[in-house]
Amino acid sequence: QAFFKPIQNMAPPSPTNRHTKISVIGTGNVGMAIAQTILTQDLADELALVDAIPNKLRGEMLDLQHAAAFLPRTKILASVDYSVTAGSDLCIVTAGARQNPGESRLNLLQRNVALFSKIVPPLAKHSPETILLIVSNPVDVLTYVAWKLSGFPSNRVIGSGTNLDSSRFRFLIADHLDVNAQDVQAYIVGEHGDSSVALWSSISVGGVPVLSFLERQQIAYEKETLEKIHKEVVESAYEVISLKGYTSWAIGYSVANLARTILRDQRRIHPVSVIAKGFYGIAGGDVFLSLPAQLGRSGVLGVTNVHLTEEEARKLRDSAKTILEVQNQLGV
Ligand code: NAI
Ligand code: LAC
Repeated sequence: QAFFKPIQNMAPPSPTNRHTKISVIGTGNVGMAIAQTILTQDLADELALVDAIPNKLRGEMLDLQHAAAFLPRTKILASVDYSVTAGSDLCIVTAGARQNPGESRLNLLQRNVALFSKIVPPLAKHSPETILLIVSNPVDVLTYVAWKLSGFPSNRVIGSGTNLDSSRFRFLIADHLDVNAQDVQAYIVGEHGDSSVALWSSISVGGVPVLSFLERQQIAYEKETLEKIHKEVVESAYEVISLKGYTSWAIGYSVANLARTILRDQRRIHPVSVIAKGFYGIAGGDVFLSLPAQLGRSGVLGVTNVHLTEEEARKLRDSAKTILEVQNQLGV
């Protein structure tokens, strides 16, 4: 305190009651892309990092701390001990095995479920009021596993889901129409993966629904073009993984986008993995998959009543069945 002299009649500093803490579990490609974006976008007062490899963890912490002169002030902690996450407002889980080139996300299930039984209980213990944001794959089933292991209400357990797929979808549509992706509203729902569902009727550009616009303008659009764009979305991760070995930047921005909405209580709508039983005829078990959900400081505020054609609803139910078939083998 030698650097600063008190001014006359000042009150003692009160504890900052708007202190926001985020923990990121898993400091690999994805965890560090998320951590870096959280710092750049000034989303937290405190960032705690956890990993199973102590040296890499400390190295990542130091490397981020050394950027302090270029970033908004954020306290950065790291430990293999989960007590470092105590009092987190948001815990983002990216720990786990990633796909090898050509490998499906569902193929990671057994390895990553085993990890979750070691990761989720200590997170819940140290931050009983936190919101869990699951990123590890297969993200929909692992979000269900995190919900069961944490004992939290379902509104506080969210999977990053198709927020990333929808971002890829919006990019491809924007590129096709030569507009800004931020002016393209488009949802992909269902599994974050091979059985995702494109909601064609939800696509609008600058508020103009694309399909009805094309019909009004008598612009013939081949359904194939739209299907081709969705196919490109489904293949995106496989292509990037085959080229650079993993994906990281888009998921980093996607998860920071969710963190901002949650921690700043933005009440925005995102396609994220939520407990979907009861919506659009989905039955047969507590399945998590992506639906357009309103998010705020208490997590999921509700699922929007977006219109699905019968074909879209059927595909969504098929996606749910795919996830449930895998999930039911777990016995969790
Ligand atoms: P990575 O291998 O670079 O990092 C994984 C990290 O988890 C490693 O640092 C490892 O030490 C750590 N870890 C392993 N066991 C742990 C434990 N018990 N406790 C704490 N940390 C532990 O993998 P990457 O590329 O970061 O991917 C991580 C996960 O994220 C994968 O499952 C991947 O499929 C998934 N992912 C999900 C996306 C989505 O859209 N939901 C997008 C991209 C990746
Ligand atoms: C993706 C995979 C890794 O980037 O989930 O979509």
